[in-house]
Amino acid sequence: MGALGKIFSRSHQAVIGIDVSSSACKVLELSQQDGHLRVERYAVEPLPQNSVVEHAITEVEQVAQAVERAVKRSGTRCKYAAVAVAGAHVITKTIRMPANLNDADLQTQIEMEADHYIPYPLDEVNMDYQVLGPAEDNPEEIEVLMAACRKEIVDDYVAVIQGPGLSPAIVDIETYAMENAYALIAEHMPGGGMEKTVAVLDVGATTTNINVIHNNRSVYSRDHTFGGRQLTEEIQRRYGLSYEEAGLAKKQGGLPDNYQTDVLRPFMEAMCQEAMRALQFFYSSSPFNSVDQVLLAGGCAQIPGIDEMVAARLGVPAMVANPFASMSLASRIKPQMLANDAPSLMISCGLAMRSFDQ
Ligand SMILES: Nc1ncnc2c1ncn2[C@@H]1O[C@H](COP(=O)(O)OP(=O)(O)OP(=O)(O)O)[C@@H](O)[C@H]1O
Ligand SMILES: [Mg+2]
Repeated sequence: MGALGKIFSRSHQAVIGIDVSSSACKVLELSQQDGHLRVERYAVEPLPQNSVVEHAITEVEQVAQAVERAVKRSGTRCKYAAVAVAGAHVITKTIRMPANLNDADLQTQIEMEADHYIPYPLDEVNMDYQVLGPAEDNPEEIEVLMAACRKEIVDDYVAVIQGPGLSPAIVDIETYAMENAYALIAEHMPGGGMEKTVAVLDVGATTTNINVIHNNRSVYSRDHTFGGRQLTEEIQRRYGLSYEEAGLAKKQGGLPDNYQTDVLRPFMEAMCQEAMRALQFFYSSSPFNSVDQVLLAGGCAQIPGIDEMVAARLGVPAMVANPFASMSLASRIKPQMLANDAPSLMISCGLAMRSFDQ
């Protein structure tokens, strides 16, 4: 059992959440006092183009340097980090085991069983499991959730955090980190999110992840190839800018007048189309045929007015995710900057919350 053997374990110590995604490395540290959360430190450090491709680190050295800069800039004193691999790289499966096994036998049996579901030799994967409880229809069996990911993938995530001297306390799955951060938002929904079906649409730089949460549990997750990179590339092409310049212009403005109508607006329409497609995929592969709410996350959720457009096109209420809405902020945190970055910090926030595992 390697690093992924830390998905279901408790961290028992303060961890800094580190989201290594395709456009940036995002680090975030929270503290908790009397049940109240506070944002202590955060930093976002852009990554060179193509250093993380399809949720895998391709340029380990460059990414390690960006992680180191982000961690240093954040000023954290944490010694431990929580990172996540993408759900797409993880095989999860609920299996049944006899209830009377001791821990060692249970582990051996699970490994034997896992072999049927994992298309790689077992010595090439990291595996973890969690006992869910007795099987409902048979008290002599227990249900066990197992998760496995290729070592290659996990090892790189562990390698890039070691530059600034951090140890991996937790290697999580993005889907679970998102669910954790979502819980902070669901708290403020009527009924605390119970009886509600919410589609969290994380529109990042290269990937749009739809994570549908029903009764506060993730019931569906799927990646679609769509993201802000398309808008960046269109800006580069039209206005003759570099990748970095286009990325900055998007956030800071200063582009010619026709940008709004000729470039941004068509991208927003494409984003709505993609959201619709993602929902259709979900409906066609599940018993659901509606959702109560769309929650927009990821950097593209920062586009002014995108929530109204998505709501209008999909006919479902939509809002932009802010996991920090009820947190206090350390004085070193700039509130406006955090508010802007909030939707793209869902994963780092869900990871940082692993500090408070009970
Ligand atoms: N204010 C803004 N307006 C438009 N686009 C923005 C804004 N802020 C950020 N973006 C875009 O959002 C994208 C980055 O979002 P995010 O940080 O969620 O991506 P990521 O997590 O790195 O990507 P992925 O999840 O696909 O690996 C970039 O394409 C960036 O240009
Ligand atoms: Mg992302």
